[in-house]
Amino acid sequence: MRTILVLNAKGGCGKSTISTNLASYFAYEMSKKVVLADFDPQESSMAWLEARAEQWPHIEGIAAYKEPLRVPKDTDYLIMDAPARVHGKELTQLMRKAETILFPVLPSPIDMRAAVKYMEELQKTGRVARKEVKIGVIANRVRENTIIFSELYDFIKSMRLPYVATLRDTQNYIRAEERGIGIFEMAPSQVYQDLEDWQPLTKWLRSKRSMP
Ligand SMILES: Nc1ncnc2c1ncn2[C@@H]1O[C@H](COP(=O)(O)OP(=O)(O)O)[C@@H](O)[C@H]1O
Ligand SMILES: [Mg+2]
Repeated sequence: MRTILVLNAKGGCGKSTISTNLASYFAYEMSKKVVLADFDPQESSMAWLEARAEQWPHIEGIAAYKEPLRVPKDTDYLIMDAPARVHGKELTQLMRKAETILFPVLPSPIDMRAAVKYMEELQKTGRVARKEVKIGVIANRVRENTIIFSELYDFIKSMRLPYVATLRDTQNYIRAEERGIGIFEMAPSQVYQDLEDWQPLTKWLRSKRSMP
């Protein structure tokens, strides 16, 4: 079983959006058995699953913030959607099962500053220090050719971690979210740019480079 944790201390940076779209990618595009574990009491991922119609490939949901994380044996992918502001012991606990961490950052000075601090905290956790987990950074809600994006780009490069995707700012994610689907399950003519955005990320996740 592959285990992927979507993590950042900031709210609103796209953790749930990336978690749900990733679940859709593996379930729909790759026909894998997927469990989506929601560690956030706000339940964005659980709400997304509730909105998901029968016609789409099944994704098992676990409200992991209140239930034990009992993952069925035949699961191929476990996607974990983290809450905001996880620190200390709680962070260590959350990271215990993760092989790969996806770290979304928004092109905003406040978010970038917070990301540096949080990344420093992450680097000090046992699992990262012992190289038992791989971290990939994602630039999210990007508007191309903006100064702030070029600053975010330089910033991510300076982190010396794999920079695995640039996701543009688009209503497509909001439309998908409402219907309990991912962009992979929408009309390709509507989402072709977003499918392209996800290519480097899914390629990285399928490769050994994303594994410890
Ligand atoms: N790339 C994007 N383009 C447009 N809206 C986005 C994008 N990523 C996230 N959003 C929106 O931003 C809001 C916060 O995203 P969310 O995934 O809930 O963040 P988090 O889980 O980190 O708090 C949501 O309303 C979501 O639909
Ligand atoms: Mg969330």
